[in-house]
Amino acid sequence: MAWQFSTDRLAEIAVDHRKIIRQAHGGIPTISGVSVTIRQYEPHDFASMYKLDQACFPPGIAYSKTMLRYFLAQAGAECLVALDGGKIVGFILSEENPPLAHTITLDVAESHRRHGVGTALVGESEANLRFRGVRTVLLETATTNEAGIAFWERHGYRKEAVLKNYYSGRLDAFEMRKKLIAAPGAGS
Ligand SMILES: CC(C)(COP(=O)(O)OP(=O)(O)OC[C@H]1O[C@@H](n2cnc3c(N)ncnc32)[C@H](O)[C@@H]1OP(=O)(O)O)[C@@H](O)C(=O)NCCC(=O)NCCS
Repeated sequence: MAWQFSTDRLAEIAVDHRKIIRQAHGGIPTISGVSVTIRQYEPHDFASMYKLDQACFPPGIAYSKTMLRYFLAQAGAECLVALDGGKIVGFILSEENPPLAHTITLDVAESHRRHGVGTALVGESEANLRFRGVRTVLLETATTNEAGIAFWERHGYRKEAVLKNYYSGRLDAFEMRKKLIAAPGAGS
């Protein structure tokens, strides 16, 4: 007989898991001299996240406020923010429907790049997704985004396909994919 948990129990397990991740990361990881705290998105973060996304991506790829709100409101949405001294310096937004998840965006402020902030956000996001039964993560990045492609390849994502005219009907994207290995004790 398969083990069954109530949804309340599953929520409890997920919360415990988050605490464990935080402890494992030491609460405030110091990454290459940058002290960054990672926590779940809170509604008052919205304006800073929108501003950061506009700064990170060119017009046509950056999200409008409406699109960003739409993604955050999805049932399977998860958004983690990285803070340095209370200021949002990065965020990752994903949508999950186990065993699949889709990374919608990863944004790190220019001032904080190459300090491991993106790596920390992806690490925590993937740990959460893996624990909730996600086995494959998909994402898209512009074929011209050399930094983004290098970053994702460094983290084990592989180019799967070229999506012609994906952004604004004129800029191609790579679809990239990574298989996640099941976490011990997580659902199969
Ligand atoms: C891509 C991005 C998220 C990387 O964030 P970051 O915090 O600077 O990344 P990290 O410091 O964790 O980098 C980890 C590794 O990724 C690779 N990498 C990151 N930026 C790179 C760049 N500009 N050129 C080449 N490799 C890069 C490197 O291997 C790096 O390790 P290293 O610094 O030891 O060489 C950030 O540049 C960004 O926000 N860009 C604009 C938005 C974007 O393109 N998002 C991704 C597409 S959705």
